[in-house]
Amino acid sequence: MARPAAVIVLAAGSGTRMKSKTMKVLHPICGRSMVGHVLTAAVAVDARRVVAVVGHGREQVGPHVQEHVPGAVLAVQETQEGTGHAVRMGVEALLAADAEGTDGTVVVMTGDTPLLEGATLVDLVADHDAAGRAVTILTGELDDPFGYGRVVRDEAGEVLAVVEEKDATDEQRAVREINSGIYAFDGRFLADALGRITNDNAKGEYYLTDVVAIARADGASVGAHVTDDVMQTEGANDRAQLAALGAHLNRRTLDHWMREGVTVVDPSTTWIDVTVTLERDTTVLPGVQLLGATTVAEDAVVGPDSTLKDCEVGPGAKVVRTHGELAVIGAGANVGPFSYLRPGTVLGEGGKIGAFVETKNARIGDGAKVPHLSYVGDAEIGEQTNIGAGTIFANYDGVAKHRTTVGRHARTGSNNTFVAPVTIGDGAVTGGGTVVRRDVPAGALAVNDVQQRVVEGWVQERRPGTPAAEAAGAAGAAVAGADTGRDQTDTSQGATRDDGSPTPG
Ligand code: UD1
Ligand code: CA
Repeated sequence: MARPAAVIVLAAGSGTRMKSKTMKVLHPICGRSMVGHVLTAAVAVDARRVVAVVGHGREQVGPHVQEHVPGAVLAVQETQEGTGHAVRMGVEALLAADAEGTDGTVVVMTGDTPLLEGATLVDLVADHDAAGRAVTILTGELDDPFGYGRVVRDEAGEVLAVVEEKDATDEQRAVREINSGIYAFDGRFLADALGRITNDNAKGEYYLTDVVAIARADGASVGAHVTDDVMQTEGANDRAQLAALGAHLNRRTLDHWMREGVTVVDPSTTWIDVTVTLERDTTVLPGVQLLGATTVAEDAVVGPDSTLKDCEVGPGAKVVRTHGELAVIGAGANVGPFSYLRPGTVLGEGGKIGAFVETKNARIGDGAKVPHLSYVGDAEIGEQTNIGAGTIFANYDGVAKHRTTVGRHARTGSNNTFVAPVTIGDGAVTGGGTVVRRDVPAGALAVNDVQQRVVEGWVQERRPGTPAAEAAGAAGAAVAGADTGRDQTDTSQGATRDDGSPTPG
């Protein structure tokens, strides 16, 4: 296949029916904007230039296009006077960028057909080039062709014209072969023909489709490339159609991954962006969304009920009921249920982030565990360290964020607060309920020396007659008023518990 001269993408319309402040072609679907999908397909034909015709919202649409296709030429259509006018703007910008810009095949497509695949465009161009036509229209058959331009053929099956719904006769409306709005043209013929179309029709617009009849009148060859997957050419005009196309595109993505060896237990509740990659023998349980640049390695299990955006899931890791963004989950690690992984979370091999734990900008080493009810922000936790239940890494003093470092093989007690910046050394231990404000050296024990007062008989004196007082009496508790003043110093606090373990598990 010769390299096409250009692909022109029409994206100047506002898409009124979306009823949105966001331009239609910028609405997201399965991991890209609509026009992002179209541009991805466009790039597959490897044209010398990509031209986007922008108008409504061009300050949003233009940069978005150039982010997707660096070097794309932007053509501005100030007023939307029809598809023929739009393509003329595109051709003018193309020729301004390169005087030979129309030498060769020029593909024209619309910006709102997110299901279009690059291979379909490649086939269209190959067919067009092989036949040496002036125009090749990508067409398909629809059960309900309402609203589309119909492909009018003669008895021999030769394409004569495309007639718009509003301009069609009853006989033409009965035709089920529709114009997809995607074409391959001989570039020089297109540039010339666009100067000859008029807006003398029901809509008062310059119709690109009139180029077909002009080619016939010139005796140039016109043909159709019929696709059997007409869904690929469907556009979304409102949000209901967007959702329908989204479901279709998602199903296509899931089918692809299932054929590649991924188990998807419930395709109807699983959403995977086209930008995600999964290795074989991964399992995706019901209620999972894998978004953005997420990657899932071999034997990992994600779900149920989890959303991961731009996350890296290592081989054999398990991620249960988790919300994660820009997080790295190491090989064989366990996350969840009910974990919230915010950007900058890096969990080492075999590590654990457990139930009701929120992490942010935190490196948690190999085999290290934060099992229960904790917040870990701006932290470094060394390998094999265990963080006790209910620990808060207090990283924010109201003005600035500070870091906490916990060394290797440390064991910190339940209900601790680490007031950053602070460092807890390798192998160190903290007692239950400790507020760590000063550094704890390697191998040291840190406890807050707060005495526990015990006032015997208090319940029977102050709460007489209550079930608690009765229970205390039945247990042989000291009689009310027997306060000997002997407040008792707690000797079982935290890390000095008999079993030497400061944490409940
Ligand atoms: C067009 C075709 C129709 C085809 C259908 C397929 C024409 C005259 N008709 O009709 O045969 O079946 O597409 O979907 O071409 N646009 C601009 N500037 C304009 C007008 C349109 O950029 O001045 C863009 C729109 O943003 C849109 C695309 O071109 O992305 C198609 O325009 P639209 O008005 O929707 O054409 P249809 O009436 O759908
Ligand atoms: Ca349309």
